[in-house]
Amino acid sequence: MSPFGPFYCVFRWDLSKFDCPDPSKTTEVRIRLASESEIGSVAELWYEGLGQEEGSPWMNYLKKWTPTSAGRWFLDSKKRLGAKMLVVEINEKIVGINGIISERNSGKGRFFTGVVVSPGYRKRGFGSLLLHKTLSDLRREGLRWAEVETIQGIPAAKYLYPKYGGMGIQVPA
Ligand SMILES: CC(C)(COP(=O)(O)OP(=O)(O)OC[C@H]1O[C@@H](n2cnc3c(N)ncnc32)[C@H](O)[C@@H]1OP(=O)(O)O)[C@@H](O)C(=O)NCCC(=O)NCCS
Repeated sequence: MSPFGPFYCVFRWDLSKFDCPDPSKTTEVRIRLASESEIGSVAELWYEGLGQEEGSPWMNYLKKWTPTSAGRWFLDSKKRLGAKMLVVEINEKIVGINGIISERNSGKGRFFTGVVVSPGYRKRGFGSLLLHKTLSDLRREGLRWAEVETIQGIPAAKYLYPKYGGMGIQVPA
């Protein structure tokens, strides 16, 4: 991490070039949209998942949020912008999320929460499953691009987002 604080960056996928085969998953794993009654626990997972990343890169960002205010943000995004909350579950326990907004005018799908996996379930392919499903759904909807804002050098930027054709673009902090 830079001594000047985190540098934000954007990852972008060209969905016209996205054609990766489905990653394999076992029968107890399911990907689906969260219901409204699940948004509270999804918000807790998001808050804890960002908080428990190595080196605490999200610490400053999270000062603006509590799990309760994040839950209100997710519900409001659904109501106003038609946001979807994709979740992955194993044995009916939600272990990862990605919140998505489809912007028809710009042809872009934005991950407004970023992909977040529960700390105890990382490096088992759940992040890749969420990313793959997000990209294939957005492509099927007819969107051209997918984008997420993240922090340079963290595991998401180093290992997950470069998958499936994701390209990093640096932006001023
Ligand atoms: C980034 C994150 C979502 C990845 O989820 P995950 O379920 O561990 O991802 P996967 O298991 O699908 O891993 C994807 C690839 O990255 C690699 N990887 C993931 N984390 C890694 C780490 N800490 N060190 C080394 N490799 C790592 C995996 O080995 C895998 O490699 P492969 O494609 O060659 O098989 C998870 O670490 C996380 O929730 N981090 C905190 C939240 C966050 O910062 N999210 C980004 C918000 S913008």
